[in-house]
Amino acid sequence: MPLKLKVLFVLAEAYPLAKTGGLGDVGPALARALVEAGVEVRLLMPAYRAAARRFEGKAVGKPFRVLEGSDRVRLIKGRLPEFGVPTWLVDCPALYDRPGGPYADEHGHDWWDNSLRFAILCKVAAMFASGQGLDGWKADVVHGHDWHAGLASAYTAFDPAATGATVFTIHNLAYQGNFDRKVRHALGIDSLAFHMDGLEFYGHLSFMKAGLWYSDRITTVSPTYARQILDKENGCGMDGLLHHRRDRLSGILNGVDHTVWDPATDRCLPARYGLGDMEGKSRCKIALQERFGLPKGPEIPVVGMVGRMAYQKGWDILADAIPRILPDRVQFVMVGSGDEALEAGMRELAAHHPGGVGFVQGYDEELAHLVCAGSDIFTVPSRFEPSGLTQMYAQCYGTPPVVRRTGGLVDSVTEITQATLADGTGTGFFFDRPSGDALAAAIRRAVGLYRSDRDTWRCIQANGMRMDFSWRSAAGRYVEVYEKALEDRRARTGGGRG
Ligand code: ADP
Ligand code: GLC
Repeated sequence: MPLKLKVLFVLAEAYPLAKTGGLGDVGPALARALVEAGVEVRLLMPAYRAAARRFEGKAVGKPFRVLEGSDRVRLIKGRLPEFGVPTWLVDCPALYDRPGGPYADEHGHDWWDNSLRFAILCKVAAMFASGQGLDGWKADVVHGHDWHAGLASAYTAFDPAATGATVFTIHNLAYQGNFDRKVRHALGIDSLAFHMDGLEFYGHLSFMKAGLWYSDRITTVSPTYARQILDKENGCGMDGLLHHRRDRLSGILNGVDHTVWDPATDRCLPARYGLGDMEGKSRCKIALQERFGLPKGPEIPVVGMVGRMAYQKGWDILADAIPRILPDRVQFVMVGSGDEALEAGMRELAAHHPGGVGFVQGYDEELAHLVCAGSDIFTVPSRFEPSGLTQMYAQCYGTPPVVRRTGGLVDSVTEITQATLADGTGTGFFFDRPSGDALAAAIRRAVGLYRSDRDTWRCIQANGMRMDFSWRSAAGRYVEVYEKALEDRRARTGGGRG
């Protein structure tokens, strides 16, 4: 193994330059932890308009063409703000210099040319793995995150001059980047690769499948999800392939970056607090009730939720649960955006129950911190959840979570039982069926305990705040995966695919 392992992260989003969900948090946080573990990490992401404006960087060399017929690209080199991790933005104004988000326009419609937008990112990534490298730097490992980076492993595998190994992390198997087969030509994919034993998926060209098929190693973001995706129910059609490659697949739970998420130092909060002094949390609660226009009352339990409004997250389950619990004098505060029908449902609920339900539609990073800190209970009623971060943040902020028993929620929340209360490990409440009454029953259990036994409640808060969600151990596990990927690569180039 080289003295210092060189790893290139291929990312569609990285906080604070671009973030639509957990992927934006995880890339930079893991990169920082790996740097601390002695790995040389570089990030590669598109120069979206908003990202390029915030990024202080210098153009490197001359523009170059990576795919026949497409516009030239340029690399801009700098550091990720707030994290300091060396970063290249792939600059290609025709593809990335637009208003709107990383994947969609202002109206939420996917960019029509997403296949090309992310193929270009992947092709540049693969160039870093080739014998020459780019900008005088050559990656030992190209580590792609989610479907947007899946083709990086394929392009690397197709390049006879490539020396780098490839690792691919599934953050969410439900988003696969499957495109009409016609895009193959523009993406420079040979017909030989477009078949079942390649990147074809039911007649489409699949970025996700490319990542799963061509990478030396595959990871996903929790051990439970790593097991669940081998089943039909959660495998999103990829379970057969994942079974085939299961000896290359591992689950590593995400962590929390405490430089961003720590109630003792959080600059987004009106008051800070910690295990020893929880006074600030009560002030955050009042600010939260005020912000959502709800009656102020320190004794009224407040249940919070923050997230993308997608079927996955169970917003409809919460919408069904809320009217069942409101008569118990409980308040709900929620921040989210996404699916229009889910947004409309939540707006309607808030309009019908002005004293009990507060909903802010949109993406608001600061408010997400306040909901985490000011709520008494936090809920994550997901139908499936590869890892989930908000339930970890909530525990760090002394806000016990009510979660569905699935994926990373199982791996990051310890269910409150007689035994876990006795040994000081219980941190949250679970429910099983994805239904409003099951969630309502779990929230009622939490509210009941909150109202009836404050001492026990404080112990649960403390158990959560003491949880070690730091990225250090995960970084160690990733280093092991990189080493195995390098071994696999050596075996592969020595003959066969392994
Ligand atoms: P996912 O990646 O599936 O969206 P995670 O729980 O892993 O779910 O991460 C979600 C991240 O995005 C968290 O940092 C959360 O605070 C943030 N987030 C999601 N929706 C919003 C929103 N509407 N406003 C602010 N932050 C949000
Ligand atoms: C995905 C998953 C989420 C995970 C995040 C970061 O978006 O839905 O569970 O925490 O990626 O890995």
